[in-house]
Amino acid sequence: MSDDETLDIMFFCLGNICRSPLAEAIFSHKIEEAGLDRNFHIESSGTSSYHVGEEPDPGSQKVARDRLERDLSHQRSQQLTAEHLRDFDYLVAMSASNRDKALERADTPPDDLHLMRDFEPNEGERGLDVPDPYGGGQNRFELVYNILDRCCEELLDELRARHPGLD
Ligand code: 4NP
Repeated sequence: MSDDETLDIMFFCLGNICRSPLAEAIFSHKIEEAGLDRNFHIESSGTSSYHVGEEPDPGSQKVARDRLERDLSHQRSQQLTAEHLRDFDYLVAMSASNRDKALERADTPPDDLHLMRDFEPNEGERGLDVPDPYGGGQNRFELVYNILDRCCEELLDELRARHPGLD
């Protein structure tokens, strides 16, 4: 944990408009429900600069509204930097290609760089990419939501086990 006694977690994808803003929102919701939010600092980013400064995709905004009653319209896309890779305690990539891009950018490989679906409770799907819903229909965003929801639950369980001071 960093000096300020928070666990700093960065979720990242390619554009930071579809998957990782949703992962950030779902995980934030879970730690708020658990009364643990003061122990965490959560952000999201993209390996590319394609959408920097833009708000999340309408598909992600809609599913966040429908399922979490959260408004993501104020969120803005940012690009993942070498500083993020150095400073955050946990870095969680949505796909293997996102992870590989991050490794190219890191000064030294981060200790806790994970794939989101390393935390997949469905064993047969563990380690797979979170599918990219960009340009797809709302059902694709629903599918991504369901994957992220169960993986975020598992991630939080694992962090609580690794950091007993959180509870
Ligand atoms: P994300 O989705 O990585 O989940 O935010 C994408 C967003 C934009 C693009 C690809 C994926 N793009 O090629 O612009």
